[in-house]
Amino acid sequence: MPKLLAFCGSTRRQSFNQAILNVAVQGAEEAGAQVTVVSLADYAMPIFNQDEEAEQGIPERAQAFKELMVSHDGFLIASPEYNSSYPALLKNALDWASRAAEGEPMMQAYRGKTAGIMAASAGGLGGLRVLVALRMLLENVGVLVHPNQKAIAKVDTLLNERGEIDNEKTIKQLKKLGADTTKLCASIQAG
Ligand SMILES: Cc1cc2nc3c(=O)[nH]c(=O)nc-3n(C[C@H](O)[C@H](O)[C@H](O)COP(=O)(O)O)c2cc1C
Repeated sequence: MPKLLAFCGSTRRQSFNQAILNVAVQGAEEAGAQVTVVSLADYAMPIFNQDEEAEQGIPERAQAFKELMVSHDGFLIASPEYNSSYPALLKNALDWASRAAEGEPMMQAYRGKTAGIMAASAGGLGGLRVLVALRMLLENVGVLVHPNQKAIAKVDTLLNERGEIDNEKTIKQLKKLGADTTKLCASIQAG
């Protein structure tokens, strides 16, 4: 059974991206994955600074987040698009996770892992451009990103009063993304 870590590049209350991530998580669970959902708000870490890293080591919460990534087989990541790319919050967490403490293997959080990526925006492109940047980043550090990705446009029109996705077609698409990521991860585990 693949173990997936699900996280979002937004810590905004009522985040659109958290809403779509939650649906993909359901799809992954229905396909047999064991999913851990975390918020980057619980792993607040300083902006990466190589001098501070050399002097003080990897901060506790950055190390904890990296260890979570290491202990999972793959990731479900939803990210807002900020100025056509990923938010600093997400990039900073991914940068810290790429750092090895003394004695740790390089890129342990990434190599051999699988990811499913998605974005949501009230705009007409749904954050499509952040997925290009995020896919490139993840592939470059050794993560296989499923070709099925979803950019949910005009997401503000697809929510119920609790801020949950309430549109049949969108739910189906996001669940499929979660299920597809689970299947890819399982097939890699099976060798
Ligand atoms: C700094 C900044 C830049 C943004 N740039 C874009 C953009 O390039 N494309 C887009 O669709 N939305 C953009 N937005 C709007 C976000 O899509 C919107 O804030 C969205 O709610 C963020 O996702 P969340 O609801 O998960 O927090 C931007 C927002 C901020 C704060």
